[in-house]
Amino acid sequence: MTKRAVVKGLGTYAPPRVLNNHDLERLVDTNDEWIVTRTGIKERHIADPEETTSDMAEKASRIALQEAGIEGDDLDFVIVATNTPDTLFPSTAARLEARLCDHPVAGVDLQAGCTGLIYAIEMASAMIQSGNFHRILVVGADKLSSITDYQDRTTAVLFGDAAGALVLEGQESTEFGILGSYLRADGRGGDLLALPAGGSRLPASAATVQERLHFLKMNGNETFRFAVKAMPEAVEKVLTKVGMTLDDMDLLVPHQANLRIIDAAVRRFNLDPDRVVINIERYGNTSVGTIPLALDEARHQGRVHRGDVIVLVAFGAGLTWGANVIRWGH
Ligand code: ACO
Repeated sequence: MTKRAVVKGLGTYAPPRVLNNHDLERLVDTNDEWIVTRTGIKERHIADPEETTSDMAEKASRIALQEAGIEGDDLDFVIVATNTPDTLFPSTAARLEARLCDHPVAGVDLQAGCTGLIYAIEMASAMIQSGNFHRILVVGADKLSSITDYQDRTTAVLFGDAAGALVLEGQESTEFGILGSYLRADGRGGDLLALPAGGSRLPASAATVQERLHFLKMNGNETFRFAVKAMPEAVEKVLTKVGMTLDDMDLLVPHQANLRIIDAAVRRFNLDPDRVVINIERYGNTSVGTIPLALDEARHQGRVHRGDVIVLVAFGAGLTWGANVIRWGH
C-alpha cells in the first residue's frame, strides 16, 4: 500500500518586537517610501538578543504538535531548516529535540538558504514514504537579525525573524499530503548571497570582524534577476511533475523576499490575487520562516480548504530553488 506524508499540524511564531521603516530611518540612510516601493516591506519582527533560533523553533513546534494532537515523544525525526543555527554545532535540531522530547529521537539541521523548508518537506516526505519513519517534525526557523548588518542599507531593510513548524505523518492510500517536489541547487551563483566568514573558508579572526564579514552580503540586483526566473520555473516544473497545470493550483505560497519578485511571478502566470498569499509588508524576509507564516495566515483567513492544491515555492542562498505541491488535509 502506498504511503504519503500528510500535514497534521502547523504552527508559527514571530517575536513580538516590531521594527518599522521609520525605525530603520534612524539606523541607516533610507526612507519609508524607498523601502515600500522597492520591496513592499513596512515592518518586520525582530527577536530580542537573548532569544535564539531554537527558542523560536520551540514556540512554533509546540503549536504544531498540539494541533497534530501528539507529544514530542511521538516523533521519529526532527529536521530544522535554518541558516542561523544557535551554534554551528551542536545542531539546532538536537537542541530542539531535547526540549520537546523526554526520550531522544533523531534530528538534523538542513541548510539550503531560504529554500530550506521546501527541501525539508521533500526529505521528510521521502523518509515517510520509505516506511522507515512515521512522524517527522519539519521546522523552518531563522534569526536573520543576528547576521544582518544594520550599517548596510542595502540589506538592513529586508530581513526579519520567525519560525514555522509542520508535523508530517504517514497515511496509507490517501489523496492528501505532499504530492511532489522540485529541488535545485547551483553553487556557481553562491557568492551572490553569502555569509563570508565563520566557516572553514574564512575562520573568525579580528580581521573578519573588523571587515564585517560575519554579516550577510548580497548582490541584490543579480539575486533579483535569478529569483524572477527561478520561482516561475520551479512552479511550472513541480506542477508538470505531479501531472497538474496552473489551473489545478488553488493557492500559491511564495517565499516573501521582495513584493516585486512575487508580482513578476503573478504577472507571468496571470494569476488572480486571491490565489497568491502575500504578507511581506508585515514580516519582511524571514528566510525559511516566510512560507509557513504565509500559509498559516492564509489558513486563519479562511483561504485554505480541505482538498485544495497548494504550491509552496522558494529561492535563496546556494543558490537554491524549489517547490512542493500539497493537497491540503488528511
Ligand atoms: N534606502 C534607500 N536607497 C537605497 C537603499 C535603501 N535601503 N538600498 C539601496 N538604495 C539605493 C542604491 O544605493 C541605489 O542608489 P544609486 O542609484 O544612487 O546607486 C538605488 O537605491 C537603487 O539600488 P538598487 O540596488 O538598484 O535597487 P533595487 O530596486 O534593485 O532594490 C533590492 C534593491 C531591494 C535589494 C532588490 O535588488 C532585491 O530585492 N533583490 C533580491 C533580494 C532577495 O531576494 N534576496 C533573497 C534573500 S534569500 C535568503 O536566502 C536570505
